[in-house]
Amino acid sequence: MNEFNLPNHPQEENLEKLEIYLLLEGIYLQYGYDYRDYAYPSIRRRVWHRVLAEKLPTITSLLDKVLHDVSCFERLIADFSINVTEMFRDPLFFKEFKDKVIPMLRTYPSIRIWHAGCSTGEEVYSMAILLHEAGLYDKTKIYATDINTDVLKTAKNGRFSLEHMKKYTSNYMQAGGEEAFSDYYKVTDSGVKFHSFLTENVVFAQHNLVTDSSFNEFHVILCRNVLIYFNKDLQNKVHSLFYNSLGKFGVLCLGNKESINYTKFDKMYEEISASQKIYKKIK
Ligand SMILES: C[S@@+](CC[C@H](N)C(=O)[O-])C[C@H]1O[C@@H](n2cnc3c(N)ncnc32)[C@H](O)[C@@H]1O
Repeated sequence: MNEFNLPNHPQEENLEKLEIYLLLEGIYLQYGYDYRDYAYPSIRRRVWHRVLAEKLPTITSLLDKVLHDVSCFERLIADFSINVTEMFRDPLFFKEFKDKVIPMLRTYPSIRIWHAGCSTGEEVYSMAILLHEAGLYDKTKIYATDINTDVLKTAKNGRFSLEHMKKYTSNYMQAGGEEAFSDYYKVTDSGVKFHSFLTENVVFAQHNLVTDSSFNEFHVILCRNVLIYFNKDLQNKVHSLFYNSLGKFGVLCLGNKESINYTKFDKMYEEISASQKIYKKIK
């Protein structure tokens, strides 16, 4: 046994796999949330975290509790939802987007962008600022979606902690920001509030990449640091959704640990930026 009391022996491992399988099936059948194809190591860690937090003896007893106590189900899916994000995360991505994608977007009469798995919205505010500085925000509609309704509330609110602003300012500058970052927010008693014009062209909505279908045709789809939590089959399924949701020459942006290579769709795109995982649909 190790720090989480995780089994180390093959027989125990098989039993653990069976229990996790039954737990995820139970959640799907009872609540319609489908975590069956999420990456196993990450789900396993989070399941054990919840078993210990609820002071339960086994994963099967967690299944029992999840089925009979909705609040326990909610705590477990909150554990499954990893919401880490930041403004201008991976600044070089935004710089590359500005240098290589913005010139393409300039040629369109209107622009539709989908942030899939937007978490608390920092990525969306960053994109709105970038588009504003490029003079393109007014003709853009941004659709920002996530499975988790709590993070969407924070995103809509536009209130963030002051303690991160130093880091975000540095990210913004590395990303090629052209103004003073502090012009985009005001400091309040409880943190910072970003200016409401940055969300005037944004629609925040719940959307589950596993079970929901396409809802528009987009010029750009950003899905960064989400697919990493899915297994290969599910990644392919979501890539199919993105492929079908992008227009001709549409741009797909992935996270820095993600890639279109080795998926069923790698021949359908060409690289705009290999290092920053930006791809253009060519077929
Ligand atoms: C690590 S955050 C990434 C946030 C942002 N894209 C970034 O790169 O900073 C992953 C987000 O994916 C969301 N997510 C996980 N599974 C999802 C699903 N099936 N459908 C939609 N969003 C999902 C989580 O709720 C979480 O907010």
